[in-house]
Amino acid sequence: MELQLGDVQTTALIPLAIKANETMSRKPRIKDPKAVEIIKALNIDTDQYDKFMSHEGVVARTIMLDRQLKGIIKKAPDTVVVNVGAGFDNRFPRVDNGRIYWFDLDLPDAIAARKKAFPDQDRVTMIAGNALENGWCDQVRAVLAGRKTKPVFIAEGLFMYFTMDQIKTFLNVLKNNFPEGGTLIAEQNCKMMQKNEKYHDTVKSTNAHFVSGTDSGQEIADLTDGIRLVEEHSFNEVMKRYSIRGKLFALLLPKMNNRWATFKWGQD
Ligand SMILES: C[S@@+](CC[C@H](N)C(=O)[O-])C[C@H]1O[C@@H](n2cnc3c(N)ncnc32)[C@H](O)[C@@H]1O
Repeated sequence: MELQLGDVQTTALIPLAIKANETMSRKPRIKDPKAVEIIKALNIDTDQYDKFMSHEGVVARTIMLDRQLKGIIKKAPDTVVVNVGAGFDNRFPRVDNGRIYWFDLDLPDAIAARKKAFPDQDRVTMIAGNALENGWCDQVRAVLAGRKTKPVFIAEGLFMYFTMDQIKTFLNVLKNNFPEGGTLIAEQNCKMMQKNEKYHDTVKSTNAHFVSGTDSGQEIADLTDGIRLVEEHSFNEVMKRYSIRGKLFALLLPKMNNRWATFKWGQD
């Protein structure tokens, strides 16, 4: 498989390489056989994309978001999920209950690459589109129309590549196109990480740049009327369980790690 990806789109190779290596490890904490298949087909050297802190962060964020989504789906079995900036993520089979509907949204070159690796599946649609524009929303609204449920949007490894203005635009796209309300679960990175991006252990191997950061999800909620922060959890909560380095990082630099922030708009 050959890939032609833009700078930010290339960052999708980081979680892909990490999930493949974790799956092939002796005691995998997460399993993603598709990632193994893609990494083998691409024949890329994963070393540059898989370093300790990024590895532990991706494992923690995967465990946390899988758990949160499973909880949401248990309460609302017909949930429609939009995976915004999906890259090569393969979360659908891990959380599927046989009823949910799933969209993988990414930029056209990323979706072209994804389509080479992922077959068409029931209740899953890949959309080539820009999250910052309205174009992709009609397809999601069409599926929502047949289901009495509010949409859930996940943004894993995305917001740091958007400026705060772009994040505001994205929030307005969600609010304007899904006025009945919804949930957004978005990964946040801190301002210090944005400033020190050249020291990031894996993103420094790409040409992508962190262009924003927050110290609280409230800074995101404050960008747009009607968006409220519901909860926020540092990846440290899970990462510290697995290694002394993870424990020390959580203890010495508690605010440095990325977080999952959950936002809602409209009525609950
Ligand atoms: C670090 S990767 C994360 C991939 C995936 N979420 C994961 O965690 O494995 C960031 C992804 O965001 C996508 N992306 C960046 N800007 C985007 C935009 N404006 N609209 C849709 N996707 C975008 C990139 O193409 C890339 O696939």
